[in-house]
Amino acid sequence: MNSTKNGGLLIIKLGGSIITFKDKPLTPNYHAIEKLSGIIKELKKRYKIIIVHGGGSFGHYWSVKYDMHTKPSIYPDEGVSRVNESMTKLNHIIVEKFISRDLKPFTIHASSFVFNNLECSRDRIMDVTDMIENNDIIPITYGDVVHTTKGNFSILSGDALMKILSINLNPLLSIFTTNVDGIYDSLGSGKIISNMLVSENNELLTNTDTNIEFTNTPFDVTGGMKRKLSESIHIVKNGIPVYLINGFYPERIVDIVNGGDFIGTSIKLQQGEKGDN
Ligand code: IPE
Repeated sequence: MNSTKNGGLLIIKLGGSIITFKDKPLTPNYHAIEKLSGIIKELKKRYKIIIVHGGGSFGHYWSVKYDMHTKPSIYPDEGVSRVNESMTKLNHIIVEKFISRDLKPFTIHASSFVFNNLECSRDRIMDVTDMIENNDIIPITYGDVVHTTKGNFSILSGDALMKILSINLNPLLSIFTTNVDGIYDSLGSGKIISNMLVSENNELLTNTDTNIEFTNTPFDVTGGMKRKLSESIHIVKNGIPVYLINGFYPERIVDIVNGGDFIGTSIKLQQGEKGDN
């Protein structure tokens, strides 16, 4: 996207582990939502912003209860309703906070622009482009249960939405916030890999010799950090840098856009690679 008005577009995911207490069913983390809103307000002075949020102890709670996954399948209708309703509620909480901060959010439901799980409506993308170009609005969408075909539904993660929106809207940066500081080089060492590169073969290259270990939380039906990395690779392959940062310290996003030192993990294209995937 060509931005003449300001610094460009940032697409930011508010991870479910930040905006909710992941181990307390259906419990929002108002303090974290408040803090994120303050930083988004700061960023909005210089950037166009699109927000994607996750499900945390709202959507994931009911998805686990009704054994619903990202694979399209026939799931209990009651589960479909419960997941959908809980995500609407969480979205409402965030939207109310944003309105109180004069952030002018506008919710776009995933099912209004994503079909058959991953295909995306070009018209709807044009609408979003129009809104961020001509209005002062922050479009906001979220991981949800979506209908696919023939009675099948699937859980569509906020991470997949990050990929869909990033690839179609070509932001300056895609930023994922989670409850950890970035990608750790090995579990428990406390050391963050600050830079990762995506190679021609879609491998993640790190500046350390150690292996990456992944953790999953019991409530997570959409794949945790592993899923985030695989979606990130697609985004990076399109030439868009991805940052993974701790959403309890959202001021780190400001450090990133200011181009200084930051705590987190950046994922970029290995030099010489074309953004053609
Ligand atoms: C979850 O979206 C959507 C539902 C379970 C309905 P995400 O998978 O992006 O949520 P978090 O950020 O991991 O909680």
